[in-house]
Amino acid sequence: MKSRIISTGYYLPQKVLTNSDLEQMVDTTDKWIKQRTGIYERRIAEQDEASSDMGSRAAEMALKRGNIDPKEVDAVICATITPDHFFPSTAALIQKDLGLSNAFALDVSAACSGFVYALALADSLIKSGGASTIVVVATEKMSTITDWTDRSTCILFGDGAGAAILRPTDENRGILSSHMMADGNMGDLLIVPAGGSRIPASTESVKQKSHFIKMSGNEVFKVAVRKMIESSHIVMKEAGLATSDIRLLIPHQANLRIIDAISKRMRLEKDQVYVNLDRTGNTSAASIAISLADADEKKIIQKNDNIILASFGGGFTWAGMALKW
Ligand SMILES: CC(C)(COP(=O)(O)OP(=O)(O)OC[C@H]1O[C@@H](n2cnc3c(N)ncnc32)[C@H](O)[C@@H]1OP(=O)(O)O)[C@@H](O)C(=O)NCCC(=O)NCCS
Repeated sequence: MKSRIISTGYYLPQKVLTNSDLEQMVDTTDKWIKQRTGIYERRIAEQDEASSDMGSRAAEMALKRGNIDPKEVDAVICATITPDHFFPSTAALIQKDLGLSNAFALDVSAACSGFVYALALADSLIKSGGASTIVVVATEKMSTITDWTDRSTCILFGDGAGAAILRPTDENRGILSSHMMADGNMGDLLIVPAGGSRIPASTESVKQKSHFIKMSGNEVFKVAVRKMIESSHIVMKEAGLATSDIRLLIPHQANLRIIDAISKRMRLEKDQVYVNLDRTGNTSAASIAISLADADEKKIIQKNDNIILASFGGGFTWAGMALKW
């Protein structure tokens, strides 16, 4: 028995923040941002629009597309590093919003790897019989942890949400293999230092802007390329797939140069690699979820296509997954 994604959904906020808008906010240029990251614009959520609101919209679309009665859902797993609150979990808020009254709910915190981690956990739950209809959501309001005066980070991130619904299947398609890994030794290279139990919120922590993302971009870049290739190869080997078998690699949408480096080293053709970061920026955990739903909606992926998901994020965490669509 396998688990299979039976439907997907996504949500992007209306408001568009372009590179020219950023030129008015920090010392940067449209040209620099495009050349160094491949990003042209990103979406920014409204002030009264929290991560659970966006996650609910994405999950609602997935439920509708999958023709699933909310009462049939028995688990909600939400990947996010920008939860509405410390607790209750964002998954519990989505469970309430959508009337998923027979579901348990929990959040997964694995930064940009969150969606692939959550899918792999959902796959295990299904295989163990712990749940049979699972809503996996990834939602991020990165704009709330972005320092809008720091040009090295504020150009990168955007808001949005994606969702996928998993069910068991006896067909010979679905999730073929997955791989999750972490190395906490490099946690300080990508971190929001304050707001937790280590540095609780204080006047001082706010003054020092310690509630925003701090990142060593160059270090993250190098490890991200290495680890996304490594995870892809591990899941491809386990699933018995060669490069030529891959219809689409959906890598975490962090930087076009990272994606290009991965594609080149994996010897993938341009049309085998999905890119949408030009319009969304880096939406952390939501990035692969939005991409998968978009590729599904546009019919870029068809029944029985082989797909590889590859993610990397703070922690450090990284993960890969091979699926037959
Ligand atoms: C952040 C990132 C785009 C920076 O690109 P880079 O090529 O590594 O650039 P550097 O940090 O080496 O900076 C190069 C120069 O550009 C400058 N610079 C940085 N941000 C800039 C901006 N927005 N506009 C203009 N110049 C900028 C730097 O100050 C530096 O100037 P200097 O040479 O005078 O010191 C890139 O490192 C990256 O994408 N890293 C991965 C980040 C990521 O994916 N994070 C999430 C992981 S899930």
